[in-house]
Amino acid sequence: MNSSNSNLASLTGSLSPRGRGLTLLFLTLCACEPAPTFPADYPKSFAEVRNCRSSSEHDSHNIRILASPSALAPYQNRDAGFPVGATLLKEERDFGDVSCSGPVLLWTSMTLQADGGWHWQSVSPERRVLTTNEGRCIGCHAGCGQSPDGYEGTCAVP
Ligand code: HEC
Repeated sequence: MNSSNSNLASLTGSLSPRGRGLTLLFLTLCACEPAPTFPADYPKSFAEVRNCRSSSEHDSHNIRILASPSALAPYQNRDAGFPVGATLLKEERDFGDVSCSGPVLLWTSMTLQADGGWHWQSVSPERRVLTTNEGRCIGCHAGCGQSPDGYEGTCAVP
């Protein structure tokens, strides 16, 4: 038995079978990777708010920007705050893919949290969360996300 198993045994040994089950479930869930904040079938519900173009600030990838249903009106009209859960998503493609018709290389996303801050992710084509709340996302968007060009942390100029 390796040490993590024996720790587990001593941790769960004193619990009732039900408590043991719950503890194992909890440990299993904790071992999971964080999930992307956008659904796999986002093309069904998210709307394009910026069509295919090059983004010098995002590694010169060709990008499209999409908004979740609750992010759409605040992002486009800029007359109300974003609600909790509002998500903006960037599809990033190779810099040679000027029509954004090829595979997505990377997703970057921002989702408004209950504390009023954005949760930042970069996500692989296999939907693995590669990074969360990277300093460079937060730092750059804090600057470009200000009016009149930006809006509440979002940086695309309308
Ligand atoms: C060097 C500056 C810079 C860095 C670093 C950066 N961004 Fe951006 N980001 C921008 C700019 C500028 C735009 C809008 C223009 C464009 O699309 O190129 C943008 C657009 C976005 C959008 C679309 C919504 C919008 O209008 O802002 C998302 C989502 C996003 N970035 C997420 C991220 C994440 C996640 C990271 C870190 C992994 C990140 N960004 C790092 C500058 C940056």
